[in-house]
Amino acid sequence: MKFSEIKKKHQNNILNIKQTVEASYSVHFIKGLFKKNNHNENPLLMLCKGNKLIIVVDENVYKKFGREIEQFFSMNGCNFILHKLNASEKNKTISSVIRLCDMAKKNRIQRNSIFIAIGGGITLDIVGFAASIFRRRTPYIKIPTTIVGIIDAGVGVKVGINFGKSKNFLGGYYPPLAVFNDQSFLKTLTAKEIRCGLYELIKIALIKDPSLYYLIERYYRDLMENDFNKRTEEMIFLAASLLIKELTVDLLESNLQRLVDFGHTFSPCLEMKSENEIPHGEAVGIDILISSHIAFKKNLLSQADFDSIFSLIKSIGFSKKYSLPKAKQLYSSLDDIRCHRAGSLNLVLPNRIGAGNFTNYCSVEEIKHAMDFICDSEMFQRN
Ligand SMILES: NC(=O)c1ccc[n+]([C@@H]2O[C@H](COP(=O)([O-])OP(=O)(O)OC[C@H]3O[C@@H](n4cnc5c(N)ncnc54)[C@H](O)[C@@H]3O)[C@@H](O)[C@H]2O)c1
Ligand SMILES: [Zn+2]
Repeated sequence: MKFSEIKKKHQNNILNIKQTVEASYSVHFIKGLFKKNNHNENPLLMLCKGNKLIIVVDENVYKKFGREIEQFFSMNGCNFILHKLNASEKNKTISSVIRLCDMAKKNRIQRNSIFIAIGGGITLDIVGFAASIFRRRTPYIKIPTTIVGIIDAGVGVKVGINFGKSKNFLGGYYPPLAVFNDQSFLKTLTAKEIRCGLYELIKIALIKDPSLYYLIERYYRDLMENDFNKRTEEMIFLAASLLIKELTVDLLESNLQRLVDFGHTFSPCLEMKSENEIPHGEAVGIDILISSHIAFKKNLLSQADFDSIFSLIKSIGFSKKYSLPKAKQLYSSLDDIRCHRAGSLNLVLPNRIGAGNFTNYCSVEEIKHAMDFICDSEMFQRN
C-alpha cells in the first residue's frame, strides 16, 4: 500500500490509540511478616523469588527492626541491597528520589528487580516515586509501618514528593506489585505518630462509616496507650478496607470530587506554614475541626454531632500547643487547592457522623469563626 492510500484510510490524519491502564495488586494483612519463613505461608517470599531486591527502610524503623528484616531476607536466600532512608518532610524531595535512583543504577538494579519500601507514608511516597521513574518503571512493594501508612498511603496508587513549598506537588499514579500490612510494626510508634494515625482513622470514619467512628470513640485510648489488641486491629483493618473501597472506584482520580479529601483542604497550609512542625496526621486533625465548624455554622451538621467530633479530638489532643496561621492565610491557600482540583474547591464537609458532602463556597469569615472557636479551646496558640 502506498503512503497516500494509508493516509486516505485514516480520517483527518489522526491515528487513534486507546488502551485502558490496568491496575491489579493485593493488600495482604499478615501479622509477623518477617517471622514467616515458609514460602507457602508468606506471599512476600513468593514475589521476591529470583529477583534482585532494593530494600529501602526508614532509618527509625531500621533501628527497631533492622536486624529482623536483614535476617529474614538473608536466611531466605534473597539477593538484595538495603538502604536506610532519613524520612522527613524536608527530605521528601526530588533530590532524595535522584539519590535512590543513582544508588539503584550503581547497584545494577534491572527492570525486573523490585524496590521494597519499608516505613511510613514518607518512605512509601519517595520509594514509589523513584520506582515509577527508574528505567521508566520498576516494580515496587509497599510495607507500611505506621497507622497512616497502613490505612492510607499504603493502600492506594499515589506516589509523590514535595516541591518548593507545596506538599505532594510532583507525583504520579503507580500501582505497587503488592502491599503487606503487618500491624506488629505499630508497637514502637510514639504517641505523636499514633495521634496522626487516629486523625486519619477519624477522617475516614466521619465521611464513610458511623460504626467505625463509635469504635474509635470507645477504644482510642487503647491505641494511645500502645495497647494493640483485637479491637484496635479491627479498627485499622476496617479503615483500610473503607479506603480501598472508596479509592478503587476511581484509582486514577478522573473525578476530583473525592470524599477522602476530607481533612486535606486546610492541612497542607497548616503543615507548610509551621515548616512541618505540625505533622501530616495532626494537620488533618486540625482541618477536621475547622471543616466541621464550618459545616455546623452552615447548618449542615447538627450541634450534637459537632460537639461529639470536637470533644473526641480534644481528648486525643495534639503533641504541642501549635501556633496556627491566620484565617486570611488559610483562605489564600485555597487558591492552590482549587488549582490542584482543576478549578473547584470541593471542600468536604461532614453532614452527620458517617456521611459527607461537597461545597465550593467558603468565606474568610467562616474560617475566622472556626479559628476563633478552636483557639478559644486552649488547644492552640493564637497567631
Ligand atoms: N500516597 C498517598 O496516598 C498518601 C496518603 C496519605 C499520606 N501520605 C503521605 O504520608 C506522609 C505521612 O505518613 P506518616 O504519618 O506515616 O509519616 P512518616 O513516614 O514521616 O512516619 C512518621 C514517623 O514515624 C517513624 N516511624 C515509622 N514507622 C515506625 C515504627 N514502626 N516505629 C517507630 N517509628 C516509626 C518515621 O521515622 C517518622 O519519624 C505524608 O508525607 C503524606 O503526604 C501519602
Ligand atoms: Zn492524609
